[in-house]
Amino acid sequence: MIDEKKRTGASRQALVVAIDGPAGAGKSTVAKSVARQFDYTYIDTGAMYRSVGVLATEAGLALDDAVGLAALVGEMEFDFPWQGEELQTVVGARNLSRAIRSPEAAMNASTVSKVVEVRAALVERQRRMGQNGGVVMEGRDIGTVVFPDAELKVFLSASAEVRGKRRWLQMRERGQSAELAEVIAEVERRDEQDRNRAVAPLVPAKDAVILDTSGLSLEAVVDRLGTLVQARLRK
Ligand code: DC
Repeated sequence: MIDEKKRTGASRQALVVAIDGPAGAGKSTVAKSVARQFDYTYIDTGAMYRSVGVLATEAGLALDDAVGLAALVGEMEFDFPWQGEELQTVVGARNLSRAIRSPEAAMNASTVSKVVEVRAALVERQRRMGQNGGVVMEGRDIGTVVFPDAELKVFLSASAEVRGKRRWLQMRERGQSAELAEVIAEVERRDEQDRNRAVAPLVPAKDAVILDTSGLSLEAVVDRLGTLVQARLRK
């Protein structure tokens, strides 16, 4: 049953939950579980930057070509349908779900995300997607830029080794082969770029709850977040 208050955002029931953090900190798994638990919409903003990188590369654009990238993003129409347990990333008529998950796509996403024009266009769309609340949105700048007034902000972190290992396991599950040491190094390179960019760098919002997930199971992190959401709902 659709809760009218939730749908219109007229109630405190429709929170914006912002989850930020570096690659492999567990954001996607945790955000998806929390969204399911509270019947909120899960939004993966990284998939949007990844899609820009993939389509820019296909179009032969330089990844720092602000004018070309702005034109490309302006024409992109995103859709995120579920297929079973998997969230699909569809842009126009193309399902990019697989193409955006390669290591190259990750690094290219990080590179195009430095371009102000790309960020401005995607942030605007993300704000529209979350304007009625009832969303769990994950990324790098959700609590700092996209929704600075989000009712709950969580910044997930973990050591580079733990994050690289998680990424490596995910890749193996998808049948992609890779050296663990190389995956850890790639995760570190990308974080370095995301933390040090001029616009909307990866930093925790001042009012974010910071959770180091290194020694925790992702189930434990989901539990912790569920408790935080419940506490915000009671306020
Ligand atoms: O979350 P992810 O690994 O799919 O993100 C890919 C890249 O996209 C990440 O390295 C930086 C960029 N990104 C961003 O700049 N801002 C966001 N809100 C989400 C992702």
